[in-house]
Amino acid sequence: MRTTLLDLLRMKQAGERIVMLTAYDTPSAMIAERAGVRLLLVGDSLGMVVLGNDSTIPVTLDDMVRHAAAVSRGVQDTLVVGDLPFLTYASEADAIASARRMMQEAGVQAVKLEGGQPIVPIVRRLTELGVPVMGHLGFTPQAQYQLGIRVQARQASDARRLLEDALALQEAGAFGIVLELVPAVLAEAVSKRLRIPTIGIGAGAGCDGQVQVWHDVLGLHSAKSPRHAKRYGDIGAAMEAALRLYVEEVQSGAFPTAAQSSKMDESELAEALA
Ligand code: KIV
Ligand code: NA
Repeated sequence: MRTTLLDLLRMKQAGERIVMLTAYDTPSAMIAERAGVRLLLVGDSLGMVVLGNDSTIPVTLDDMVRHAAAVSRGVQDTLVVGDLPFLTYASEADAIASARRMMQEAGVQAVKLEGGQPIVPIVRRLTELGVPVMGHLGFTPQAQYQLGIRVQARQASDARRLLEDALALQEAGAFGIVLELVPAVLAEAVSKRLRIPTIGIGAGAGCDGQVQVWHDVLGLHSAKSPRHAKRYGDIGAAMEAALRLYVEEVQSGAFPTAAQSSKMDESELAEALA
């Protein structure tokens, strides 16, 4: 049975921590589900970790639909959330059209939008129309040029605004909120005030769940991962070692052997070459 919004609410009430992870393609989604992940995010971090961009800004709705569809095809029991990319939910009409594509074409069960008060009416409208919406507060990468990539809401006034934004998103119908790069004590306090679950990234242990980026947890970056990430594997190095071996074996003639080749009747070949 696929994870539902109610499951997430019950997990918060029961104090069960929620595990969320990003994914961008079918085989990855299959592996995540086999590993026990039941909540996947097709993040617009796609731009950085998969498409070679240096921010999430260039990611298009077409990019998101294509990758979210691939992730959706890889899972059965996992709730898939898809990010709406930069400026695809600036008006209610845009947000509705974008959410329609993500749910109907890509097959996700929910969408995620960045921001507080200014997008509350959009969150309310989508929710009324039956679109499950997740919020995203704190450091919101689509505003990285305005915010700077740094911990947010360290000052009382910003921290208060974040709490008010979180409450407003909840009131508008959001089923959960990602808190990114906010002080742990603030994230914990916000989590306690909310009925809906918070999912933290760089927001400490007091959130109701955690989300991490696929490439960070698996060590798939050649670049350094952010401080809030933890490497649970060194898969990039494992890939490189395997590929070095492949290069060596083709160069030396060790690959392919008869085991990887196909046979043909000698007489057929003789006739063909005659
Ligand atoms: O795009 C993304 O991967 C995200 C997570 C970091 C929350 O939004
Ligand atoms: Na994102």
